[in-house]
Amino acid sequence: MGKGSGFGKVILFGEHFVVHGVPGIVSAIDSTADAEVRRTKKGITIVDERKGSKGYAEEKKAQQLESIDRILKAMEIEPKTVSFRILLGGNLPGFSGLGASAASSVAIARAIAQELGKKWSDERINEIAYEAEKAYAGTPSGIDNTAATYGGLLWFMKNMNGGHNTIEKLRIRKPVEIIIGSTGIVANTKAMVAGVAERKQKYPEKYDVLFEQAEGLALIARKALLAFDLKKVGELMNENHRLLQEISVSCEELDYLVDLARKHGAFGAKLTGGGGGGCMTALTPTKELQEAVATAIEKEGYEVLRTKIGVERI
Ligand code: PMV
Repeated sequence: MGKGSGFGKVILFGEHFVVHGVPGIVSAIDSTADAEVRRTKKGITIVDERKGSKGYAEEKKAQQLESIDRILKAMEIEPKTVSFRILLGGNLPGFSGLGASAASSVAIARAIAQELGKKWSDERINEIAYEAEKAYAGTPSGIDNTAATYGGLLWFMKNMNGGHNTIEKLRIRKPVEIIIGSTGIVANTKAMVAGVAERKQKYPEKYDVLFEQAEGLALIARKALLAFDLKKVGELMNENHRLLQEISVSCEELDYLVDLARKHGAFGAKLTGGGGGGCMTALTPTKELQEAVATAIEKEGYEVLRTKIGVERI
Protein backbone atom coordinates (compact mmCIF):
# COMPACT_ATOMS: atom_id res chain seq x y z
CA MET A 1 0.00 0.00 0.00
CA GLY A 2 1.17 3.55 -0.75
CA LYS A 3 0.36 6.58 1.38
CA GLY A 4 0.58 10.33 0.81
CA SER A 5 -0.69 13.70 2.04
CA GLY A 6 -1.20 17.22 0.71
CA PHE A 7 -1.81 20.46 2.61
CA GLY A 8 -4.94 22.56 2.49
CA LYS A 9 -4.31 26.24 1.84
CA VAL A 10 -5.71 29.68 2.23
CA ILE A 11 -4.97 32.37 -0.36
CA LEU A 12 -4.26 35.61 1.51
CA PHE A 13 -3.74 37.77 -1.57
CA GLY A 14 -4.29 37.47 -5.29
CA GLU A 15 -6.66 34.60 -6.13
CA HIS A 16 -7.86 34.81 -9.73
CA PHE A 17 -5.30 37.54 -10.49
CA VAL A 18 -2.54 34.88 -10.12
CA VAL A 19 -3.98 32.94 -13.02
CA HIS A 20 -2.90 35.84 -15.24
CA GLY A 21 0.63 36.26 -13.85
CA VAL A 22 0.00 38.63 -10.92
CA PRO A 23 1.86 37.51 -7.75
CA GLY A 24 -0.13 35.93 -4.96
CA ILE A 25 0.47 35.03 -1.29
CA VAL A 26 -0.74 31.70 0.02
CA SER A 27 -0.39 29.85 3.31
CA ALA A 28 -0.78 26.15 3.90
CA ILE A 29 -3.02 25.32 6.85
CA ASP A 30 -2.68 22.55 9.39
CA SER A 31 -5.24 20.31 7.70
CA THR A 32 -4.37 17.72 5.09
CA ALA A 33 -5.97 15.46 2.52
CA ASP A 34 -4.59 11.94 2.94
CA ALA A 35 -4.60 9.14 0.39
CA GLU A 36 -4.02 5.40 0.55
CA VAL A 37 -3.54 3.47 -2.65
CA ARG A 38 -3.81 -0.30 -3.02
CA ARG A 39 -3.51 -2.37 -6.15
CA THR A 40 -6.68 -4.23 -7.15
CA LYS A 41 -7.90 -6.04 -10.24
CA LYS A 42 -10.79 -3.88 -11.43
CA GLY A 43 -9.73 -0.49 -12.71
CA ILE A 44 -9.71 2.68 -10.64
CA THR A 45 -12.07 2.98 -7.70
CA ILE A 46 -12.21 5.97 -5.37
CA VAL A 47 -13.57 5.84 -1.86
CA ASP A 48 -13.91 9.41 -0.65
CA GLU A 49 -14.34 9.58 3.11
CA ARG A 50 -13.64 13.31 3.50
CA LYS A 51 -16.21 15.39 5.30
CA GLY A 52 -17.37 18.46 3.44
CA SER A 53 -20.13 20.72 2.24
CA LYS A 54 -23.27 18.91 1.22
CA GLY A 55 -22.94 17.75 -2.38
CA TYR A 56 -19.19 18.48 -2.63
CA ALA A 57 -18.10 14.91 -3.45
CA GLU A 58 -20.94 14.37 -5.99
CA GLU A 59 -20.35 17.74 -7.67
CA LYS A 60 -16.62 17.06 -8.05
CA LYS A 61 -16.86 13.37 -9.05
CA ALA A 62 -16.36 13.78 -12.81
CA GLN A 63 -13.53 16.28 -12.30
CA GLN A 64 -11.95 13.93 -9.75
CA LEU A 65 -11.95 11.00 -12.21
CA GLU A 66 -10.42 13.24 -14.88
CA SER A 67 -7.78 14.43 -12.41
CA ILE A 68 -6.69 10.84 -11.68
CA ASP A 69 -6.42 10.14 -15.38
CA ARG A 70 -4.23 13.23 -15.66
CA ILE A 71 -2.08 12.17 -12.69
CA LEU A 72 -1.38 8.79 -14.29
CA LYS A 73 -0.62 10.31 -17.68
CA ALA A 74 1.76 12.82 -16.07
CA MET A 75 3.47 9.80 -14.49
CA GLU A 76 3.68 8.29 -17.99
CA ILE A 77 1.31 5.49 -17.02
CA GLU A 78 -1.51 4.50 -19.36
CA PRO A 79 -4.62 4.68 -17.11
CA LYS A 80 -6.19 1.54 -18.65
CA THR A 81 -3.19 -0.59 -17.69
CA VAL A 82 -3.46 -0.07 -13.92
CA SER A 83 -5.96 -0.95 -11.20
CA PHE A 84 -5.97 0.96 -7.95
CA ARG A 85 -8.32 1.46 -5.04
CA ILE A 86 -7.83 5.00 -3.77
CA LEU A 87 -9.02 5.84 -0.28
CA LEU A 88 -9.26 9.57 0.45
CA GLY A 89 -9.45 10.94 3.98
CA GLY A 90 -7.71 13.41 6.26
CA ASN A 91 -8.91 16.38 8.31
CA LEU A 92 -9.18 18.89 5.45
CA PRO A 93 -12.88 19.39 4.82
CA GLY A 94 -14.17 19.39 1.27
CA PHE A 95 -15.16 23.06 1.34
CA SER A 96 -14.64 24.99 -1.90
CA GLY A 97 -11.78 27.48 -1.61
CA LEU A 98 -9.41 25.53 0.65
CA GLY A 99 -7.52 23.84 -2.15
CA ALA A 100 -9.09 20.48 -1.29
CA SER A 101 -8.77 19.31 -4.88
CA ALA A 102 -5.07 20.22 -5.11
CA ALA A 103 -4.40 18.70 -1.68
CA SER A 104 -6.04 15.45 -2.75
CA SER A 105 -4.10 15.40 -6.04
CA VAL A 106 -0.80 15.81 -4.18
CA ALA A 107 -1.85 13.10 -1.70
CA ILE A 108 -2.84 10.69 -4.49
CA ALA A 109 0.31 11.40 -6.54
CA ARG A 110 2.49 10.73 -3.48
CA ALA A 111 0.58 7.56 -2.60
CA ILE A 112 0.78 6.15 -6.13
CA ALA A 113 4.49 7.04 -6.32
CA GLN A 114 5.10 5.19 -3.06
CA GLU A 115 3.08 2.17 -4.20
CA LEU A 116 5.16 2.05 -7.40
CA GLY A 117 8.42 2.45 -5.46
CA LYS A 118 9.25 5.81 -7.07
CA LYS A 119 11.23 8.33 -5.03
CA TRP A 120 10.08 11.49 -6.70
CA SER A 121 11.07 14.95 -5.53
CA ASP A 122 8.51 17.52 -4.34
CA GLU A 123 9.13 19.36 -7.59
CA ARG A 124 8.03 16.32 -9.60
CA ILE A 125 4.98 15.75 -7.38
CA ASN A 126 4.06 19.43 -7.79
CA GLU A 127 4.25 19.13 -11.59
CA ILE A 128 2.01 16.06 -11.55
CA ALA A 129 -0.52 17.76 -9.24
CA TYR A 130 -0.54 20.80 -11.53
CA GLU A 131 -1.64 18.56 -14.41
CA ALA A 132 -4.40 17.17 -12.17
CA GLU A 133 -5.53 20.69 -11.21
CA LYS A 134 -6.44 21.35 -14.84
CA ALA A 135 -9.38 18.99 -14.34
CA TYR A 136 -10.74 21.20 -11.54
CA ALA A 137 -9.70 24.70 -12.57
CA GLY A 138 -9.33 24.61 -16.37
CA THR A 139 -6.35 26.95 -16.56
CA PRO A 140 -4.98 26.89 -13.01
CA SER A 141 -2.23 29.22 -11.83
CA GLY A 142 -0.47 26.45 -9.92
CA ILE A 143 -0.72 28.26 -6.59
CA ASP A 144 -2.94 25.58 -5.00
CA ASN A 145 -0.83 22.56 -5.89
CA THR A 146 2.34 24.45 -4.90
CA ALA A 147 0.98 25.19 -1.41
CA ALA A 148 -0.39 21.64 -1.16
CA THR A 149 3.04 20.20 -2.00
CA TYR A 150 5.44 22.41 -0.04
CA GLY A 151 3.41 23.84 2.86
CA GLY A 152 4.39 27.06 4.68
CA LEU A 153 3.73 30.66 3.68
CA LEU A 154 4.57 31.27 0.03
CA TRP A 155 4.99 34.05 -2.49
CA PHE A 156 3.89 32.66 -5.85
CA MET A 157 4.04 34.00 -9.38
CA LYS A 158 3.05 32.03 -12.45
CA ASN A 159 5.49 32.16 -15.35
CA MET A 160 3.23 33.08 -18.26
CA ASN A 161 5.80 31.80 -20.80
CA GLY A 162 5.63 28.23 -19.53
CA GLY A 163 8.93 28.40 -17.63
CA HIS A 164 9.42 27.82 -13.90
CA ASN A 165 7.04 29.64 -11.61
CA THR A 166 8.43 31.88 -8.87
CA ILE A 167 7.99 30.16 -5.51
CA GLU A 168 9.49 31.80 -2.45
CA LYS A 169 9.06 30.86 1.19
CA LEU A 170 8.12 33.86 3.36
CA ARG A 171 9.18 33.72 6.99
CA ILE A 172 7.16 35.76 9.48
CA ARG A 173 7.90 36.45 13.16
CA LYS A 174 5.37 33.94 14.43
CA PRO A 175 2.28 32.11 13.20
CA VAL A 176 -0.92 34.19 13.18
CA GLU A 177 -4.44 33.05 14.00
CA ILE A 178 -7.03 33.20 11.27
CA ILE A 179 -10.50 31.82 10.81
CA ILE A 180 -11.98 30.33 7.67
CA GLY A 181 -15.75 30.55 7.29
CA SER A 182 -17.59 28.35 4.83
CA THR A 183 -20.71 29.56 3.04
CA GLY A 184 -21.58 25.89 2.51
CA ILE A 185 -22.04 26.63 -1.19
CA VAL A 186 -20.13 24.28 -3.50
CA ALA A 187 -18.49 26.42 -6.15
CA ASN A 188 -17.20 25.49 -9.59
CA THR A 189 -13.67 26.91 -9.73
CA LYS A 190 -13.36 26.12 -13.44
CA ALA A 191 -16.41 28.26 -14.26
CA MET A 192 -15.27 31.07 -11.95
CA VAL A 193 -11.78 31.16 -13.53
CA ALA A 194 -13.25 31.08 -17.05
CA GLY A 195 -15.70 33.89 -16.16
CA VAL A 196 -12.88 36.20 -15.05
CA ALA A 197 -10.91 35.50 -18.24
CA GLU A 198 -13.98 36.26 -20.33
CA ARG A 199 -14.76 39.55 -18.59
CA LYS A 200 -11.09 40.55 -18.64
CA GLN A 201 -11.16 40.22 -22.40
CA LYS A 202 -14.49 41.99 -22.77
CA TYR A 203 -13.71 44.98 -20.52
CA PRO A 204 -9.94 45.48 -20.88
CA GLU A 205 -9.90 49.05 -19.58
CA LYS A 206 -11.67 48.26 -16.33
CA TYR A 207 -9.80 45.00 -15.80
CA ASP A 208 -6.31 46.34 -16.61
CA VAL A 209 -6.67 48.88 -13.79
CA LEU A 210 -7.91 46.23 -11.34
CA PHE A 211 -5.09 43.86 -12.27
CA GLU A 212 -2.52 46.61 -11.74
CA GLN A 213 -4.04 47.35 -8.35
CA ALA A 214 -3.89 43.65 -7.43
CA GLU A 215 -0.20 43.53 -8.32
CA GLY A 216 0.59 46.61 -6.24
CA LEU A 217 -1.41 45.17 -3.37
CA ALA A 218 0.50 41.87 -3.38
CA LEU A 219 3.83 43.72 -3.23
CA ILE A 220 2.77 45.91 -0.29
CA ALA A 221 1.19 42.92 1.46
CA ARG A 222 4.44 40.98 1.21
CA LYS A 223 6.29 43.86 2.90
CA ALA A 224 3.61 44.22 5.58
CA LEU A 225 3.72 40.50 6.36
CA LEU A 226 7.52 40.45 6.59
CA ALA A 227 7.43 43.57 8.82
CA PHE A 228 4.72 41.80 10.87
CA ASP A 229 2.46 44.84 10.53
CA LEU A 230 -0.75 42.92 11.00
CA LYS A 231 -3.05 45.96 11.03
CA LYS A 232 -1.74 46.80 7.58
CA VAL A 233 -2.08 43.19 6.40
CA GLY A 234 -5.73 43.27 7.51
CA GLU A 235 -6.42 46.53 5.67
CA LEU A 236 -4.88 45.08 2.54
CA MET A 237 -7.05 41.97 2.83
CA ASN A 238 -10.10 44.26 2.92
CA GLU A 239 -8.82 46.02 -0.16
CA ASN A 240 -8.23 42.67 -1.87
CA HIS A 241 -11.83 41.69 -1.15
CA ARG A 242 -13.01 44.89 -2.84
CA LEU A 243 -10.99 43.99 -5.96
CA LEU A 244 -12.52 40.51 -5.95
CA GLN A 245 -15.98 42.05 -5.73
CA GLU A 246 -15.09 44.25 -8.69
CA ILE A 247 -14.19 41.23 -10.82
CA SER A 248 -17.52 39.65 -9.80
CA VAL A 249 -16.30 36.59 -7.94
CA SER A 250 -17.83 37.37 -4.56
CA CYS A 251 -21.44 36.65 -3.63
CA GLU A 252 -23.99 37.75 -1.04
CA GLU A 253 -23.09 35.06 1.49
CA LEU A 254 -19.34 35.77 1.23
CA ASP A 255 -19.90 39.52 1.62
CA TYR A 256 -22.12 38.85 4.62
CA LEU A 257 -19.51 36.71 6.40
CA VAL A 258 -16.72 39.17 5.54
CA ASP A 259 -18.76 42.03 7.07
CA LEU A 260 -19.63 39.97 10.12
CA ALA A 261 -15.97 39.13 10.76
CA ARG A 262 -14.97 42.80 10.46
CA LYS A 263 -17.77 43.87 12.82
CA HIS A 264 -16.47 41.43 15.43
CA GLY A 265 -12.97 42.89 15.34
CA ALA A 266 -11.13 40.97 12.63
CA PHE A 267 -8.12 42.99 11.39
CA GLY A 268 -9.29 42.24 7.83
CA ALA A 269 -11.43 39.77 5.91
CA LYS A 270 -11.87 38.59 2.34
CA LEU A 271 -13.11 35.72 0.29
CA THR A 272 -10.47 33.07 -0.33
CA GLY A 273 -10.04 30.79 -3.35
CA GLY A 274 -12.32 30.73 -6.34
CA GLY A 275 -15.31 32.52 -4.75
CA GLY A 276 -18.90 32.22 -5.99
CA GLY A 277 -19.57 30.44 -2.67
CA GLY A 278 -16.86 28.47 -0.93
CA CYS A 279 -14.94 30.20 1.85
CA MET A 280 -13.87 33.51 3.33
CA THR A 281 -10.99 34.14 5.72
CA ALA A 282 -10.35 36.71 8.43
CA LEU A 283 -7.16 37.79 10.18
CA THR A 284 -7.73 37.38 13.93
CA PRO A 285 -4.30 37.62 15.57
CA THR A 286 -5.01 36.37 19.10
CA LYS A 287 -6.74 33.26 20.41
CA GLU A 288 -9.45 35.47 21.96
CA LEU A 289 -10.18 37.42 18.79
CA GLN A 290 -10.15 34.21 16.77
CA GLU A 291 -12.71 32.69 19.12
CA ALA A 292 -14.91 35.81 19.11
CA VAL A 293 -15.06 35.99 15.30
CA ALA A 294 -15.46 32.22 14.91
CA THR A 295 -18.32 32.12 17.41
CA ALA A 296 -20.10 35.05 15.74
CA ILE A 297 -20.03 33.22 12.41
CA GLU A 298 -21.05 29.88 13.90
CA LYS A 299 -24.01 31.56 15.62
CA GLU A 300 -25.30 32.41 12.16
CA GLY A 301 -25.20 28.73 11.25
CA TYR A 302 -21.98 28.59 9.20
CA GLU A 303 -19.05 26.21 9.71
CA VAL A 304 -15.71 27.65 10.77
CA LEU A 305 -12.12 26.41 10.82
CA ARG A 306 -9.76 27.94 13.39
CA THR A 307 -6.21 27.75 12.12
CA LYS A 308 -2.96 29.70 11.66
CA ILE A 309 -0.92 31.09 8.78
CA GLY A 310 2.85 31.06 8.63
CA VAL A 311 3.46 27.80 10.46
CA GLU A 312 6.99 26.85 9.39
CA ARG A 313 6.75 23.08 9.19
CA ILE A 314 3.20 22.05 9.28
O1 PMV B 1 -11.17 27.61 -4.97
P1 PMV B 1 -9.84 26.97 -4.96
O2 PMV B 1 -9.40 26.49 -3.63
O3 PMV B 1 -9.69 25.90 -6.01
O4 PMV B 1 -8.77 28.13 -5.37
C1 PMV B 1 -8.73 28.63 -6.69
C2 PMV B 1 -7.72 29.75 -6.83
C3 PMV B 1 -7.80 30.49 -8.17
O5 PMV B 1 -6.87 31.57 -8.10
C4 PMV B 1 -9.18 31.07 -8.41
C5 PMV B 1 -7.46 29.59 -9.35
C6 PMV B 1 -5.98 29.28 -9.51
O6 PMV B 1 -5.68 28.27 -10.14
O7 PMV B 1 -5.14 30.06 -9.03
